[in-house]
Amino acid sequence: MIKVDISNVWGDISLPDLLAVEKEVAAAHNILTEQTGPGSDFLGWLDLPVTEPTEEMLRIQAAADRIRESSDVFVVIGIGGSYLGPRAAIELMQGCNHNMGKGKGDPQIYFAGNGLSTRAWNELQRLLEGKDFSVAIISKSGTTTEPAIATRALRWMLERKYGTDGAKKRIFAITDPVNGALRQMATEEGWETFVIPPNVGGRYSVLTAVGLLPLAVAGLDINAIMAGAAQAKEAYDLRSFENPVWLYAGVRNLLYRRGKAIELLESFEPGFKMMGGWWQQLFGESEGKDGKGIFPVTAEFTADLHSLGQMIQQGERNIFETMIRFDAPEQKMVIGGDAKNLDGLNYLEGKTLDFVDEKAFLGTLAAHVDGGVPVITMDMGVLDDAKLGEMFYFFELACGVSAYMLGVNPFNQPGVEFYKRNMFKLLGKPGYES
Ligand code: PA5
Repeated sequence: MIKVDISNVWGDISLPDLLAVEKEVAAAHNILTEQTGPGSDFLGWLDLPVTEPTEEMLRIQAAADRIRESSDVFVVIGIGGSYLGPRAAIELMQGCNHNMGKGKGDPQIYFAGNGLSTRAWNELQRLLEGKDFSVAIISKSGTTTEPAIATRALRWMLERKYGTDGAKKRIFAITDPVNGALRQMATEEGWETFVIPPNVGGRYSVLTAVGLLPLAVAGLDINAIMAGAAQAKEAYDLRSFENPVWLYAGVRNLLYRRGKAIELLESFEPGFKMMGGWWQQLFGESEGKDGKGIFPVTAEFTADLHSLGQMIQQGERNIFETMIRFDAPEQKMVIGGDAKNLDGLNYLEGKTLDFVDEKAFLGTLAAHVDGGVPVITMDMGVLDDAKLGEMFYFFELACGVSAYMLGVNPFNQPGVEFYKRNMFKLLGKPGYES
């Protein structure tokens, strides 16, 4: 189990406070699992984890094996919930430079259709030059502007390069089983498809083909990921404060009620950055509505201690932190000695980098708590494929419980439509004139 430590929040909340919300946490958890709350038709993610591979998973693995054999590069088109999960997982497990030195057999993976930058598009063109590539289009609707533009352009590139029939074997659509423009397109064009179940919203979809196909192409063990999630489903069903989901959901809601309106999620792993992006969408889109919600922000330590550190230590006291820790890897970096010792580092000679990192964590924690910032810490343990599945499920469940405690529907996102409508009007999309 993930260990959630709340010993550094007692300056802002008390044990009686926590015990007083126990019933609320229990009620929110029940509403979720008994499917009686608002948005309950989007609870399919609760039951996605499996211990044995499903037929869909076997097909995903087979497609991934073909992509790995035939492609130097795999491009994943999608935005929001249709891309953050797989990108987060790949960067966490393989690092931000995961594409370095890769090619056919273990393809590079790039993400497209998650913005409207011409520079990013031109960069992708350069990266694809002379390369064999395949494409996954991930979109529930098929009409989201950013991925739709990328789909059109990459599809034409594939058809020019491989002919219509050759391109067909290199395009994979991940979408609704029945409805939507992408489903229709895939059926008409004969592309292989995988399903985003209708009862699973974008930001809760990482354990469907949305996450599993890119992760299998990246060489991760999707069965182990799902097994980790299945274990989490069982373990985190516990109905007491021994459940870390309860602690996290309960404490963050209490802190919010004490005026802590910003949650800063930090890790000491650069590869966690996109995981922070996934978490940010999960909690931001689920909770930020009806004039309520904790604003989710992420930071990378120790790097951001040299940018945000001042603000955290002495700025407005409206934030709390959630610090993520993983066990250090087995391969160590040992700090060497230097005869001149001009940098004064010889006192660390023979010490490992993770020893220094641990002290930085403890020092930061103590400083921020002294500065009046409550800190929740999460010890994730060993980082492996199963842990990845566990982490995804843990945060999804905690988000559902927390949002129901807040009194909002965790599964809609009406606010996202506003910018789209304005943009369509400005672009002259038929039907959006007024
Ligand atoms: O979480 C969500 O529902 C959103 O982030 C969507 O995933 C995102 O807007 C993309 O939508 P679609 O999959 O229809 O292209």
